[in-house]
Amino acid sequence: MPASNALSPILDPQALAQQLSGKLLLDGALTPALSGKTFEVMNPATGKTVARAALGEKADVDAAVASAAKAQVGWAKMTARQRGKAVQECGRVLNEHVEELGRLVALETGKALRTESRVEASILADVFVFYGGLGSELKGESVPFNNDMLTVTMREPIGVVGAIIPWNVPMMLMALKIAPALVAGNAVVVKSAEEAPLAVLRTCQIMNQVLPPGVFNILSGMGPECGGPLVAHPKVGKVTFTGSVETGKIVYRTAAEKLIPVTLELGGKSPMIVMGDADLDRAVAGAIVGMRFTRQGQSCTAASRIFVHETLHDEFVSKLKAKVDAMVMGDPLDEKTDIGTIISQQQFDKVKSYIKVGTESGGKANACSAMPSDAKFKDGLFVQPVIFTGLTNDSKVAREEIFGPVTCVIKFRDYEEVIAAANDSDYGLAATIWTKDLKTALDATRRLQAGFVQVNQNLVVQPGLSYGGVKQSGLGKEATLEAMLEHFTQKKTIILNMT
Ligand code: NAI
Ligand code: MG
Repeated sequence: MPASNALSPILDPQALAQQLSGKLLLDGALTPALSGKTFEVMNPATGKTVARAALGEKADVDAAVASAAKAQVGWAKMTARQRGKAVQECGRVLNEHVEELGRLVALETGKALRTESRVEASILADVFVFYGGLGSELKGESVPFNNDMLTVTMREPIGVVGAIIPWNVPMMLMALKIAPALVAGNAVVVKSAEEAPLAVLRTCQIMNQVLPPGVFNILSGMGPECGGPLVAHPKVGKVTFTGSVETGKIVYRTAAEKLIPVTLELGGKSPMIVMGDADLDRAVAGAIVGMRFTRQGQSCTAASRIFVHETLHDEFVSKLKAKVDAMVMGDPLDEKTDIGTIISQQQFDKVKSYIKVGTESGGKANACSAMPSDAKFKDGLFVQPVIFTGLTNDSKVAREEIFGPVTCVIKFRDYEEVIAAANDSDYGLAATIWTKDLKTALDATRRLQAGFVQVNQNLVVQPGLSYGGVKQSGLGKEATLEAMLEHFTQKKTIILNMT
């Protein structure tokens, strides 16, 4: 790409939002939806419109898939390492846009820049660098079938991959899907979330400076009218989805009609178990990270059920509350802000309704931090984080995914009782246990029903560590070499008879 054509970072997110307004990215170029229709993109901190996004529909899906199918032929002819190098180059170029992307995602999602949005933008490249390095791992096997026959297996790309993504960590969750899909030789069509179409569109535009046109296309639009036709499109051979259980099941049903594979990364109700011998301060710090208070709890792995041994319960709650109280809620773009806003009115209402239900069912809603005082944010979707006490694992608040800054601290006495309660959930995404006892730790890691179990820490998704859930939390794991091989290639057996 000649330097003169290279995109320069635009640090004013409002100006960048305007520039991207009303556009999809198809066949390498920004273009309006075929109908010319658009929908509103809101800044949840002010309630004001920041841009309009192109309203992609079936006709746009058809155009995007046609572009991807055409481009995929040439892309798959490149060697795997060449594709990997291009994907790594995408990572390098994205790194020059960290500040810009961080600001843009903060504007559209309300996630605080310092604690969340810039962090998301700055770890994005790592996913492309990681997968870009795995091109030569797309290996097959040689099979000792018959001495007069050479029998091998090969990994082939699937073709066109459809990816449907959510709004909470939109760039990162998109990267975990498209990086392995691209390195494996597929072309992709992404459908962004209604609430956060801009930063992922900009990411796609930046990557299209490096990738051949049509290899990576992105559509914005509504779930049923744009995501639906993408899943159903006859030329889409694989769908990868992150979002709600309910929508995941719709996607799975549609895919079943075509008999194509799907990967589903769904919700969670992740338990955190604090044993009586745990390092209390460390566990409290772990709860802050685990519950993703800085992201208003809008995380599928949020530690939204915190089981604390009765000997530590009261002290744990008061220390946790003090820490959340000390966090600053306010303007997502202000460097002083720790906690921004909820994404949308719909999610705001959902969070509020759970706080009401929890209180009505006998829980004590300990509200933390303070609402922003600036009148500019009076219409902002701010919610004070709530630490519920006095609820059991049977309560609605402890059973259903809230996807907001609401956690339950539940008292327990006995180890067997807490393992049973932790596993008594429809979900099984992540779990942590906090203890100094190695035997307890090992036993719990074996018995906790979750795709990701950690002891005395609460790390988030890391490239190279398998990530994904069991039970209602999803199907298939992401973030590893295995994920690329299993989800984005198909195996072919070849026999050469030499007799
Ligand atoms: P959603 O699952 O409805 O939306 C996720 C994506 O699916 C969006 O791009 C949406 O446009 C698309 N979609 C919606 N309906 C579709 C359909 N019929 N066909 C194809 N695509 C469709 O989630 P939503 O409404 O944003 O949030 C609802 C709840 O889902 C949250 O409260 C939370 O509990 C959960 N959620 C979980 C996430 C996770 O990371 N696992 C992320 C976002 C939401
Ligand atoms: Mg929905």
